Amino acid sequence: MTTLSKEKKLSDFRIDYELNKLSKSGVDKNPFSEFKLWFDLVLKANVIEPNAMTIATANKDGFPSARVVLLKEFNESGFTFFTNYLSRKGREISENPNATLLFWWREFERQVRIEGKIEKISRKDSEEYFNLRPLKSRYGALASNQSAVVESRKVLEKRFLTLEKQFGENPPIPKNWGGYKLIPNKFEFWQGRRDRLHDRICYEKADNDWKIYRLQP
Ligand SMILES: Cc1cc2nc3c(=O)[nH]c(=O)nc-3n(C[C@H](O)[C@H](O)[C@H](O)COP(=O)(O)O)c2cc1C
Repeated sequence: MTTLSKEKKLSDFRIDYELNKLSKSGVDKNPFSEFKLWFDLVLKANVIEPNAMTIATANKDGFPSARVVLLKEFNESGFTFFTNYLSRKGREISENPNATLLFWWREFERQVRIEGKIEKISRKDSEEYFNLRPLKSRYGALASNQSAVVESRKVLEKRFLTLEKQFGENPPIPKNWGGYKLIPNKFEFWQGRRDRLHDRICYEKADNDWKIYRLQP
């Protein structure tokens, strides 16, 4: 078995979860409202990157990939993040719009999974958000053909400086950069519990309503 140090084996790392509990009758009937309750708590708790979420996508052959991105907006129409449309995730989304978001908020012993289909947001909304970003981040997006191989960091930094000289205070939004929105059809709210008998409450879209059920841990 793998060991991290002489003192502690990986198999020794375990904690019992006991901060909270979840029940079908206790959750909001609307998964977006339940998500908002959870997210507001996390925002108030001053955790690092509270809006960091893993997004799993898959190519047309079903081969999966996952990475962390930042949630920038959510409401009943979906969950929005920004990226490069030609990145690996962007290419996979164009082949297969099905995706899953995953939040793990360790401070609350909570996980949320959200499944659905991804769509691009409007160009106007992407531009609006792009122009709110710090200037250097806008140049970062402009300089990077995200997920393409690059010979060295130097090449990237040179491109960054050249673009800065060219555009000054007003870099244009990169043609292939913008927002995506995941439109959910399923949520799972997970609350860690004692003795690994965790609570899992799911919502599934059915006839314009949400069916709520509990899964075994
Ligand atoms: C905390 C954190 C936040 C990130 N936020 C974003 C983001 O909002 N958008 C993005 O494109 N990449 C973000 N990344 C980088 C991605 O994880 C990933 O490296 C990049 O998007 C390329 O992924 P891909 O090759 O699978 O498309 C973030 C990484 C971390 C660790």
